[in-house]
Formats: sequence, structure tokens, C-alpha cells
Amino acid sequence: MNLLKGRHKKNLTTSILVLIAVILFALLVVVKLKDEQVKPSVQTAIQNTDIVDGIHQPTGLKDGEGLMTVVTHCTACHSAQLVIQNRMNRERWNATIRWMQETQNLWDLGDNQEVIVNYLVKNYPVSVKGRREKLENIEWYELTIN
Ligand code: HEC
Repeated sequence: MNLLKGRHKKNLTTSILVLIAVILFALLVVVKLKDEQVKPSVQTAIQNTDIVDGIHQPTGLKDGEGLMTVVTHCTACHSAQLVIQNRMNRERWNATIRWMQETQNLWDLGDNQEVIVNYLVKNYPVSVKGRREKLENIEWYELTIN
């Protein structure tokens, strides 16, 4: 009888310990979850509100990789409209930049030039092609006269 009582007591202590452990664990999970819920809302508060519908409001430039580099280097002397109105390929953008450097005191852009030109070619590509592309790798067939 004594033995049974003792075992019963032991079981009860174990149960209580397990219960405490479960409660502590649950508390830990709740605290951790709360912590994670707070973090993203803080991040959204810091998010750039200058971009509305994919357009950078202060300049009118399209949102994209390299946007802020373009804003920094290409809106210092003239409006971004001058940039937006012009659609060029990579070669001509580089030539325009070289022209501004040679005649308009545009500074050396260093590694940023590639970032800027990549942005321009991606977001403001040449929309209308003038002449058709040069024909290449054509298999000509012989005209035969019957
Ligand atoms: C140091 C001043 C300066 C900076 C910085 C500058 N530009 Fe210019 N840009 C000019 C001037 C001056 C003109 C001529 C404006 C005019 O004709 O009214 C010009 C003209 C242009 C034109 C029109 C060219 C044409 O053929 O009509 C484009 C496009 C242009 N810039 C793009 C850019 C881009 C892209 C950048 C960033 C890499 C940039 N600009 C940075 C001074 C600058």
C-alpha cells in the first residue's frame, strides 16, 4: 500500500513538472511569435513611400534596379524628363554620357555607368525599330528556270 502511494506521489510530481515545462514552453512560443509579428510591421514603416505604382514620384522615373543611382547622377543638372523622353540602345546611351562628359561637365561615373546604362536599357528600351534587322544566316535557294 505504501509502495503504491509512493509511486502515485512520484507520478503526480512528474505530472506537475511536465505541466510547468509545457506552460513555460507555450509562453516562450507566444513571446517569440509576438516578437516576429512586430518586426515586419516596423520594416514596412521604413519602406520607401516615394514609389507609387512603380513610379518614383519625385522624378517620374520607373522603379527598378539602379533607380537611385540614376536619380543621384542623372537628375542633378536637368529634369529626369530629358532621360525619360529618350529611348536609346546601350551604345547610344554610352555615347550620350560621353558627350555630356566632354561638353557638359558630367563627371566620371566609374562603375555606376554600367548600373545606369543597364537601368536605362531595361526600363526605357528603344520601342520603334527604324530599319529592319540585317539579314543573317539565310539559306538562299537557287532559282531554276524550267
Ligand atoms: C553635369 C550636368 C549633367 C549631368 C549630371 C547629366 N547631364 Fe544629361 N545633359 C546635360 C546637359 C547640359 C544637356 C543638354 C541639355 C539641353 O540640351 O537642354 C544634357 C542632355 C541630356 C540628354 C539629351 C541628349 C540629346 O541628345 O538631346 C539626355 C538623354 C541626358 N542628358 C541624359 C543624362 C543621363 C542619363 C545622365 C546620368 C548619367 C545625365 N544626363 C546627367 C548635363 C548633365
